[in-house]
Amino acid sequence: MIGLIGGSGLSHLEGLELEQQMQRETPFGEPSAPLMIGKFAGKDVAFIPRHGEHHTIPPHLINYRANIWAMHQLGVEQILAVASVGGITELYKPGVIALPDQLIDYSWGRESSFFSEDFSAARHIDFTYPFDETLRQQIQLAANIVEMTVIDGGTYAVTQGPRLETAAEIRRLKNDGADVVGMTAMPEAGLARELNIAYASIAVVANHAAGISSHPLSMEVIIETMDSSMHRVHRLLKSAIPLL
Ligand code: HPA
Repeated sequence: MIGLIGGSGLSHLEGLELEQQMQRETPFGEPSAPLMIGKFAGKDVAFIPRHGEHHTIPPHLINYRANIWAMHQLGVEQILAVASVGGITELYKPGVIALPDQLIDYSWGRESSFFSEDFSAARHIDFTYPFDETLRQQIQLAANIVEMTVIDGGTYAVTQGPRLETAAEIRRLKNDGADVVGMTAMPEAGLARELNIAYASIAVVANHAAGISSHPLSMEVIIETMDSSMHRVHRLLKSAIPLL
């Protein structure tokens, strides 16, 4: 079973032939929404919108542990996670789709491990490469097949939100080496790694990050960019899923 996590702009997975909807309680509480289980591009998938069915859960209040655990319980071994991000460096312009290969975690106060209550030395996972390289390459290949341009790589800075950043914060992230900024890749990616689930992010640039362009950030423009990018995300997923 393949797991798909939808971000802002992707609360419903077009083309999913729904077979079952499952609301599962986990040892870590309730997932963001019932898992939608069915066939997508000929494969068994489980889909969950991380912000809830009606986009009501802000990034810092998402129950990441319940979402990842519920997928693990279903036997999910690979997760493609779609996320909207702000673009910091030159190539990462609004509308661009990127497959980050690194991240820096600036979030705080989130439940970020399945082992917080039951820790032992063996639980220090290797996280040198936070996104699964094989999965990233498969998505890149899927993009090539449908002649879609995606950026291979980039560093995803994870901020706490829900507010957007200040111009100085974005300057700092840029100095730190970040290419895009979003609010959800952590603890999601770390939790997946704890359970040996291969995880890759499909990051859709919704806007220039704060202070990068001279225009003030507007939620309307961000949502518009996300909406107009989602048909490409669906096309990419349809091409990628059969390769996994
Ligand atoms: N910052 C953080 N998260 C985001 C942004 C941003 O500019 N755009 C979309 N998600």
